[in-house]
This record gives sequence, C-alpha cells and structure tokens, in this order.
Amino acid sequence: MSRFAVQARRLCKKHGDGPALVRAVDEVNLDVPAGQTLAIMGPSGCGKSTLLHLLGGLERASAGKLWLDGRRIDGLGERALARMRRRSVGFVFQAFHLADELTAVQNVELPALLAGVPPRAARRRAGELLDRVGLTDRAGHLPSAMSGGERQRVAVARALVNEPLVLLADEPTGNLDSAATRAVLRLFGDLRAGGQTLVIVTHDERIAALADRLITMRDGAFVDDVRMPAARPGSLGGLLNLGG
Ligand SMILES: Nc1ncnc2c1ncn2[C@@H]1O[C@H](COP(=O)(O)OP(=O)(O)OP(=O)(O)O)[C@@H](O)[C@H]1O
Ligand SMILES: [Mg+2]
Repeated sequence: MSRFAVQARRLCKKHGDGPALVRAVDEVNLDVPAGQTLAIMGPSGCGKSTLLHLLGGLERASAGKLWLDGRRIDGLGERALARMRRRSVGFVFQAFHLADELTAVQNVELPALLAGVPPRAARRRAGELLDRVGLTDRAGHLPSAMSGGERQRVAVARALVNEPLVLLADEPTGNLDSAATRAVLRLFGDLRAGGQTLVIVTHDERIAALADRLITMRDGAFVDDVRMPAARPGSLGGLLNLGG
C-alpha cells in the first residue's frame, strides 16, 4: 500500500470556454496520507464538490495527474475507472442518495453485490456495518421511514461496505439537525480513530475541528492548508456536545 491514499498534481477542471470559462478546480496539488482526516472548506462555488468528484473518479479532470493508493487513475478507461471507484472509494452526499425502494440493509449491501461479493457475505457485512453505525433495529426500514440522521448513517455504512481506501463526504451534515449532526460527527470520529482515510467537504466548524488537516479553497485553488493539533482524548467528546 502507498503511503498516500490520494495524490493530485496540477489537477484542473474547466467548464465552458471563452467568456463563460469557469476554472472550477485550478491547478490543485494534493497529497493525502493514508489514515488522514482532511476537511475542505470554502465559500459556495469555490470548487469543493468538483474537487471531491475528481478525486473519486466521478468526474474527469480537464488536465493534471491523479493517483489513488499510488496507482495512476487519470488515464483509465470508463470500465476500469468504474471498477476502481467501486473498490476503492466510498461517497457520502448531503442529500443521502439512498435507493428509496430498498431497505436499509439492502442499500448497504448493494455496492458489495455489484462488486461481486456473494449475497450471504454481502448481507452479513451490511448487517455488521448497520450495527457499527447504531442502526441494527432499522435494517428492514425503507429510507422514507427513517430520520435524516438515520438515513445519513445508512449512507455512511453503504460507503464503507467495500472497505474503501478513502471515504469522500460532501457536506454530510448539511441536511441534518443538531442531534443528527452529533451522531454523524461521532461516527466520523470513530472512523478517524480506526484509521480510515477521510476527505470531508463541509461548512460545519465542528467537522473541521475533528480533522487532522484543514484546507481552505477559493476560486478553485487552495489558499490555506493547516495541520490541526492532534485531537486530545475527551476534546472530541466535548466538541460533540456543543449546540444543544
Ligand atoms: N456542469 C457545470 N457547468 C458549468 N459550471 C459548473 C458546472 N458544475 C460546476 N460549475 C461551476 O464550478 C464552480 C465550482 O462548483 P462546485 O459545485 O464545485 O462548488 P462548491 O464549492 O461545491 O459550492 P457549494 O458550497 O455551493 O456546494 C462554480 O462556479 C460552479 O458554478
Ligand atoms: Mg458543493
């Protein structure tokens, strides 16, 4: 395994051309060591989501080089890219993006089934993950019968089912009230403690506070990149009790 989960060199994403040209991501260089929790903040439209999509292979860069676990991925064909995404990347979105007609456990096991895991093993793994996110008793519920916080925890379990190299989250608490936000923050804190590489785009200072590193973006570029002091035992718990 590479020391770096993700690496990017002069990564660019342009939209449109001429006077309508937007440099959503503008020559970004990035090294994310395995096990790091990286928070990315910045004003609306500065390119955070676009960068996350590029890193996870959901969108293709206009230029630049990209590696996952030391393996170059910017030149991969569609099928190879899709396979890499399934195996190595977990995504969590602000709006959950669960399949409405599938139960919690079916949502979580789906990416494992798509990756070729036998059904019984996929179901077992999905059950373990629902346990880990505190939703054992919701396994048979449809998303419509769950709260926002529960849905997001299902989405996190789903993102983890193929044991991704990196979990990419785009404003994971953006649609949640403060109690649900605390539950999701606790979950990310646990993942961080377990060594999961995390890249989290957020407007929430509390998420940034649990990160090892905070990057600030403006106009498609990094304007600040700071290492955070190692979270002291107990400091996280204190933080998570903020806000009611
Ligand atoms: N498909 C597209 N076509 C043209 N411009 C786009 C497209 N997608 C994004 N953009 C532009 O790229 C820039 C970056 O967008 P992006 O969604 O990455 O911002 P963001 O930082 O995630 O913002 P927010 O905090 O509001 O989610 C914006 O100026 C946006 O308008
Ligand atoms: Mg965004």
